[in-house]
Amino acid sequence: MANQVAILLYLCWGIAQCPVGGAGRAFTRDGRETVERWVQQPDTSSPPASACQVSIVNRLDCYPDSLTDEGKCAARNCCWSPVEGALRYRGIPWCFFPSSAGSGYSVTSRSQTPLGFSAVLQRSVPSHWPRDVMKLKLDVTYEAESRVHFKIYDPAVKRYEVPIDTPRVTSPTSHMDYAVTVTPSPFSIRVTRTASDTVLFDSSSTPLIFADQLLQIGTSLPTDSIYGLGEHRQPFMINASQPSRLAFWSRDQPPATNLNLYGDHAFFLGIEASGDAYGVFLLNSNAKEVALGNTDGLGLTYITIGGILDFYIFTGPSPDDVIQQYSRVIGHTFMPPYWSLGFHLCRWGYGSSAGLKKVVKRMRAANMPYDAQWTDIDYMDKHLDWTYDKTKYSTLPDVVADLHAHGQHYVIIVDPGISSTQPNGSYPPYDEGLRDGVFIMREDRTGPLIGKVWPGETAYPDFTNPQTPVWWERMAKSFHDVLPFDGLWTDMNEPSNFVFGSMNGCPPNNTYNTPPYTPGIASGKLPDRTVCPSANQYLSRHYNLHSMYGHFEGIATNRALVSIRQNRSLVISRSTFPGSGRYMGHWTGDNSADWDNLYYSIPAILSFNMFGIPLVGADICGFSGTTTEELCTRWMQLGAFYPFMRNHNAIGSKDQDPAVFGPSAQDSMRTALTTRYTLLPYLYTLFYHSHLTGSMVARPLFFEFPQDTNTYPIDKQFMWGNGLLISPVLEKGKTSVSAYFPRANWYELDSGNLVEGSGSSITLDAPLSKINVHVKGGLVIAFQKPEVTTTLSRLNLFGLLVALNESGSASGDLFWDDGDTVDTIETGQYNFIDFSVAQGKLTSSVVKAGYSSPAMSLGSVVVYGVQSQPVKVTVNSRSMPFQYDTANKALRVTGLSEDLLKPLRVSWSAG
Ligand code: GLC
Repeated sequence: MANQVAILLYLCWGIAQCPVGGAGRAFTRDGRETVERWVQQPDTSSPPASACQVSIVNRLDCYPDSLTDEGKCAARNCCWSPVEGALRYRGIPWCFFPSSAGSGYSVTSRSQTPLGFSAVLQRSVPSHWPRDVMKLKLDVTYEAESRVHFKIYDPAVKRYEVPIDTPRVTSPTSHMDYAVTVTPSPFSIRVTRTASDTVLFDSSSTPLIFADQLLQIGTSLPTDSIYGLGEHRQPFMINASQPSRLAFWSRDQPPATNLNLYGDHAFFLGIEASGDAYGVFLLNSNAKEVALGNTDGLGLTYITIGGILDFYIFTGPSPDDVIQQYSRVIGHTFMPPYWSLGFHLCRWGYGSSAGLKKVVKRMRAANMPYDAQWTDIDYMDKHLDWTYDKTKYSTLPDVVADLHAHGQHYVIIVDPGISSTQPNGSYPPYDEGLRDGVFIMREDRTGPLIGKVWPGETAYPDFTNPQTPVWWERMAKSFHDVLPFDGLWTDMNEPSNFVFGSMNGCPPNNTYNTPPYTPGIASGKLPDRTVCPSANQYLSRHYNLHSMYGHFEGIATNRALVSIRQNRSLVISRSTFPGSGRYMGHWTGDNSADWDNLYYSIPAILSFNMFGIPLVGADICGFSGTTTEELCTRWMQLGAFYPFMRNHNAIGSKDQDPAVFGPSAQDSMRTALTTRYTLLPYLYTLFYHSHLTGSMVARPLFFEFPQDTNTYPIDKQFMWGNGLLISPVLEKGKTSVSAYFPRANWYELDSGNLVEGSGSSITLDAPLSKINVHVKGGLVIAFQKPEVTTTLSRLNLFGLLVALNESGSASGDLFWDDGDTVDTIETGQYNFIDFSVAQGKLTSSVVKAGYSSPAMSLGSVVVYGVQSQPVKVTVNSRSMPFQYDTANKALRVTGLSEDLLKPLRVSWSAG
């Protein structure tokens, strides 16, 4: 019995109070009854008129939950003043807090702790929200030199907290570059970067609310240039001075502006006018929203409807520092298999294995670099997971064997919804799942919640239950024995539901399904397109865990694949959460085949790199709608620089694989693909750095040029690492592109033609056959001769591209391993080589030589920016023939065969 109580209490851990003892009663996890706090009377004194003299930009919404009127507003003791004209539509509240509202809490005691300090906060006047937590605890932990962590929570009742691993700091940091101050009454917290005196977080201008299902805190902002806050469709830079609201609640939602999309990432980075950057992360998985531009001066307000207020502030000061600091909290990205950096081809509706084979054949005939073939739900029997259609796709295992024989890989889609209507005993995923109790349970726990997805009625695996990954791996393994896939594409995992909540709807008048306040999500209803938030999962209510569904599914899927294949594997997920990058990549969902979508893919890819999920790409050529040859060519060119490159298409749309187009489009696409394949050693090395430090693979320009404020809004160009600048054409009919070049030497990738960056835009030629890519002076890039698969290209000679800076120097590095084995870094089975160039000499230092087969040989060296024709070139003390391009000042040495695991020395002497 005691156990049963414990289990019940554990399962309802999530919302502060589990009303197991009747309305108004609440219990702690160990069974003690907690303070009664359901029946509080709102303060009924009306605000003085002077307290309502709040300017439009400083108004804080007192009635975000619904349309209101003067009477309802007065009942909340707030100020009423309608706005008219254009402003009316910009989210300016008509019912707002009086300026005297303050935070509502005061500090009643404060104590030092081994890693920081704590304070007790007491509210004297209840807010208008049900179930205020009148007494709160603040814990401030100085976790690292550039990272402070603070939590505001209920000390009496254990509330739901996000179940991801975050660092457990046990010893005090010796030095901090920030200061934290607390104002006791009304309570507010402020974090300042000491070196610059910049206030990075200050909650004083927004009333703090901490009720059971409405938590609000705000902060001022030291800049209006912020980035992040996903997953949303928006330009990369969010102008924080413009009033707007962004909602977070994972949703099966084709990207459109102002809507909550597939994932939840409540992290942002701000860049200050000085070029310093900082970051703020709210670790909270409940439905929430962020309102911008609505406090005194620049500010941002968070409202979440559950959990606790759990913040990390990162002080940077460089943008790259901020992302590395954030990654240390959520975890670094997994090391992708090398083949996953090649080109992936997919579509929904190959129709049959014959149809699929036809495409594979034409891709090969067209000599397109191509590493992975995917199949969508039409390979399945009646859309059932872990089956294939034995009629239409009867020869699918042969197609897969043939892909493998050609050194290619095969990836299948798998949706979480498990059909619940197959004849008893005929469909093990459901039968065994039911037996093992792996499904999300209805509110009353009488059985699995049944919704509807592609196969019809479905139950939803609860991946937070430790039984579920075991069952999932067993299902994956028995299917893998039949169809040996190499990667899994986890779709529909918001989780998506074609009916509202469940086949029977959701229990009405339920505080999880219709909470007191619903953030501004699409449709305004939590159960819309998903399962009832009141449903029960192992760790908590779906209400709390909803936006982590794809995250937990991805962890289970990654582990299953690694265990089955005993190799590094690929999981690409539609829904993600902070920390997902440790296990999976992401594609940006159901875009459309138009030019707008081509552009929006860049902000999305940059944002996900900031979110610690660098293996990201958009559906190349567009998912829904019909692409055109021109759009698809431009998209293949841009897509060649997505960290994850996949062309995918919706059912019913015309084929858009590169081999289906006319000869000149094919040539352009092949050129883009071979450029990517040539650069893969560089891309792979960027992933290694990301895996190790969290630094980003695809980066916005301002990461490299934070002092250059012109770069802050740029999202039509981007970089790979710190060295490659990609300037795609994003408009129909254009054969030139206006590209911004920060102050540096830039060399055109293929020719070495110099662009002297002066912090201005120049117009570059961009015929349909070309995407403009420039290398920054100062960089050494390792490359490899391309082939039609990475299996083959990995056997080829390496090359080094040296781009000299103004003082004739450069540096770079190369990480190399077999691209497949798990944990090569931990086991030392890899090579790492540093390159540096100065005064006409390139030298290498082999930092690690732990992987030797096949041998790594250097076949060529190209140097851009050699001012005059050299008289002599020596490679490891041997004199070598060379070519010098006088117009572009490019030196080329070919025909080499140098062991890269031995120190290298290449010199060129000036004429
Ligand atoms: C979803 C996915 C899409 C997929 C389709 C069919 O819409 O986002 O990529 O093709 O389902 O499975």
